[in-house]
Amino acid sequence: MWLNHGKLERHSLLLILGIVIVISIGGLVEIAPLFFIENTIEKVDGMRPYTPLELAGRDIYVREGCYLCHSQMIRPLKDEVERYGHYSLAAESMYDHPFQWGSKRLGPDLSRVGGKYSDSWHRDHLINPRSVVPESIMPPYAFMANRPLDYHAIQAKMSVLKIEGVPYTDDMIANAKADLEAQADPFSAGGTKLKARYGANVVQRDFHGEPTKITEMDALVAYLQMLGTLVDFSKYHPERGGNSR
Ligand code: HEC
Repeated sequence: MWLNHGKLERHSLLLILGIVIVISIGGLVEIAPLFFIENTIEKVDGMRPYTPLELAGRDIYVREGCYLCHSQMIRPLKDEVERYGHYSLAAESMYDHPFQWGSKRLGPDLSRVGGKYSDSWHRDHLINPRSVVPESIMPPYAFMANRPLDYHAIQAKMSVLKIEGVPYTDDMIANAKADLEAQADPFSAGGTKLKARYGANVVQRDFHGEPTKITEMDALVAYLQMLGTLVDFSKYHPERGGNSR
């Protein structure tokens, strides 16, 4: 076979045919199995759709282009896992439309930043990054502290996400505004209903530290503080297909 290889290399048509055959074998082996499995997303406990306040924060994240400097995708490489935590699972971004994996890291990965800092750190950092990280090159977003959150379209946004497959119930959509207001106010009685709808782990507090109004800062910090906190990795077993039971 090796003796005739010269013929193959000198004859462009034969070579193209050979390449096509080899690539189609590779393609079949990689792609065909995907048609026979129901789901490529592992089953994990804890994933839930974003609450209305977190969703509004996520929209600000997208609007401001935070993804241009920050990824939300920890690769399964030793250095990344040591720095950021457990590598990202497909399930963790299954309710993201569009996903925020990003392709550039001018700043660190943010997929597990939730709970890493206090709300007041995030506030100070967003108002002026250099006040907490002197060497930072991140731009300031001070205007968010004064700008009231515009959430008149939150129900419409959730309805569209529902069409795209996010499991928002009619109850969640109907009460979206009340839930959004309840999450930003630690003393709101609506918190019980919010947690009944989205789970007991939902954090209800005044993220901005400004109790009289709901600002864009409230929403963005609420979003940042929940990133990567949903899946309980002490119960995650990849060898059992991810399902913790
Ligand atoms: C021009 C690039 C750039 C943009 C745009 C940017 N950042 Fe950053 N960000 C950085 C850099 C660099 C750092 C590391 C230094 C620091 O902590 O300020 C950082 C750090 C952070 C951190 C701390 C992460 C950690 O683990 O310490 C958070 C949170 C953050 N950015 C959020 C945001 C949000 C939210 C936005 C959009 C509103 C944003 N960033 C936009 C560059 C950027």
